[in-house]
Amino acid sequence: MSDNPISQEAADAAVAAALAAFAAAGSVAELKAARTEHAGDASAIARLNALMRAVPKDEKAATGKLMGQARGRIEGACREREAELVEQEAAERLVAETVDVTAAPARRGAGTRHPLAQLQEEAADIFVGMGWEVAEGPEIEHEWFNFDALGFDPDHPARAMQDTFFVHPADRHLILRTHTSPVQIRALLDRELPVYVVAPGRVYRTDELDATHTPVFQQIEGLAIDRGLTMAHLRGTLEHFARQMFGEEAKIRLRPNFFPFTEPSAEMDVWQPNAKGGARWVEWGGCGMVDPRVLLAAGIDPAEHQGFAFGMGIERTLQFRHDLGDMRDMVEGDVRFNRQFGGLV
Ligand code: DAH
Repeated sequence: MSDNPISQEAADAAVAAALAAFAAAGSVAELKAARTEHAGDASAIARLNALMRAVPKDEKAATGKLMGQARGRIEGACREREAELVEQEAAERLVAETVDVTAAPARRGAGTRHPLAQLQEEAADIFVGMGWEVAEGPEIEHEWFNFDALGFDPDHPARAMQDTFFVHPADRHLILRTHTSPVQIRALLDRELPVYVVAPGRVYRTDELDATHTPVFQQIEGLAIDRGLTMAHLRGTLEHFARQMFGEEAKIRLRPNFFPFTEPSAEMDVWQPNAKGGARWVEWGGCGMVDPRVLLAAGIDPAEHQGFAFGMGIERTLQFRHDLGDMRDMVEGDVRFNRQFGGLV
């Protein structure tokens, strides 16, 4: 039995305990604590080292080497682990402190105009761009402007209570206008000739709200009265309008129809080459050459001045231009509907 107080086993045990503690350290701070415990003045290896004095002379060299190696392994392992942990912590910090410079800042919605208002403005702007003016009329309208002056007979079905909202009492002959056409009469009474006006505005009919109807909707009316206007001018104007609204490849076609205030009258279809379900003709509005009786009602001599008129629905235009399934979405006020049309909501 040797009387050497420092055994290989004791040195190995101190090294193994230190290496296990360093490996278990999860941070530089933990490693520092482990280093104090396993390599510091009160550590197992330091206590073993203190026994060197008691090692017999002839074993000093070998035991000294043993201790040197043990301390070297502990120090080396500590440095290695430290390097690992420093690198790991730097990587974690990079992830934790990542700033996404492309991220949009949180914005407070500033609101935007309703898609219907935007479309109405867009339509009116196309005419303003051609030198036309925007005309207005009241939504509570006199029957004479809404019907009589436009050639509707007293017994015309559109005048019935089931189609038109009457303002009480009925003998005042006030109604909620059923179309924007009465603005034609007002424009002719108000303005000097020639007249080139568009009248966008709200109109009312006693329809139930469903996928394709709403009791309150909007139309845009057009009226041009000048000398020598023909149906060719009507056609050219509407074709330009269609191209601006639906793209360069859009075109229109006119089908014979009847309106009390135009003669001849036509239904206008627009060709949408890029419609979602494939190219198609869509009914867009009514039009025609202003009936001489309408000119006479506004005090204009039909022998001197002629012109054309047209009118279409804004909701319907938005619906087929954007392939919208249900008209109710336009009026129910869900902001998600508006967002599809861009802008800050
Ligand atoms: N006012 C008609 C309607 O509401 C639309 C219309 C048709 C307007 C022909 C016009 C026109 O100016 O010439 O159904």
